[in-house]
Amino acid sequence: MGSPAIAILGTGSYAPEKILSNGDLAKLVDTSDEWIFSRTGIRERRIAADNETTSQMAAAAARRALADAGLTAADIDLIIVATITPDLPMPATACFVQDLLGVSTHAACFDLNAACSGFLYALDTAWAMLGSGRYRHALVIGAEKLSSVLDWKDRTTCVLFGDGAGAVVLGPARGTAQIIGTKLYAEGAHARLLCIPDGGSNTPAPVLDALRTPRTITMKGREIFKIAVREMEDAARDILEQHQVPAARIDCVIPHQANLRIIGAIAQYLELPSDRFFVNLDRYGNTSAASIPLALDEARRSGRIKTGDTTLFVAFGAGLTYGSALVRW
Ligand code: UT7
Repeated sequence: MGSPAIAILGTGSYAPEKILSNGDLAKLVDTSDEWIFSRTGIRERRIAADNETTSQMAAAAARRALADAGLTAADIDLIIVATITPDLPMPATACFVQDLLGVSTHAACFDLNAACSGFLYALDTAWAMLGSGRYRHALVIGAEKLSSVLDWKDRTTCVLFGDGAGAVVLGPARGTAQIIGTKLYAEGAHARLLCIPDGGSNTPAPVLDALRTPRTITMKGREIFKIAVREMEDAARDILEQHQVPAARIDCVIPHQANLRIIGAIAQYLELPSDRFFVNLDRYGNTSAASIPLALDEARRSGRIKTGDTTLFVAFGAGLTYGSALVRW
């Protein structure tokens, strides 16, 4: 007998109230709405309040996903939070989320760091754990407070990112909806192209204090752009081939929301019309691990994804990690 079919039973998302427009950014750094929009497709992004944490945003998205699934915290026995902006270096943000939601002490809770591919890595992990039969219902969350790791004087990075959270509840399939497959990859040789260079065990606390370097994101944008297009195309093609699903049969693609030009290139290479791709990066920017579940929740709630549809998720991010997933609704 094969593994039990596992499905996404509910989705939820949360975006902080504060909106930071391209015009606002032009007052902070030497940039313009024209440059940002034409190079990325971003118009504005959300910024968490100073005292708002990644775990609070994650819990808000999770509550909505639970309500959508018709389940409660008591049903959850696994929480995975994909994030590069945990509340603290330790313990795991998932433990704070467990506490905020009132999930039982019998639940397993941990964080996962695969940057912008984090949600797909967490989905794959939770799917395998539920498939083993040892866990029944999982919360898989992508949540980020990227505003806390940006250098607000660096125009090459600070205009790209935003804060937010998205969550899904995974559990035994109720109808024909189910996760069909996932594929994960990484190219560690490119790890330094996009990173936070200080603040880990590489720079012990006293050294970091002496350096006085901020723990902020550095990125070689142009190099990443080229690799990202290739990686996302490969990840999409591999999974479609493996499951013998022609690209034309995909009803909706939820790509990592980093850059509209990257999404456009993927659409062109896969020979899919651009309206097959769900895009909300104009309003949120790149929210890293939150990007796909936040877009997924909006796509479902707006009626863009319907029962019986097949969706393709595809992501790339620091590591460089990348991956894809096929889901039937
Ligand atoms: O989740 C993964 C996250 N990473 C990514 O998604 C990065 C992927 N890369 C990209 O999205 C694009 O490479 C960027 C949007 C980051 C940059 O766009 P680009 O078309 O590759 O621009 P560029 O880096 O080649 O820079 C072009 C020019 C440069 O000036 P010069 O050297 O031509 O005089 C930059 O200094 O634009 C300048 N520039 C800016 N100008 C106004 C860079 N950032 C800005 C800015 N405003 N914010």
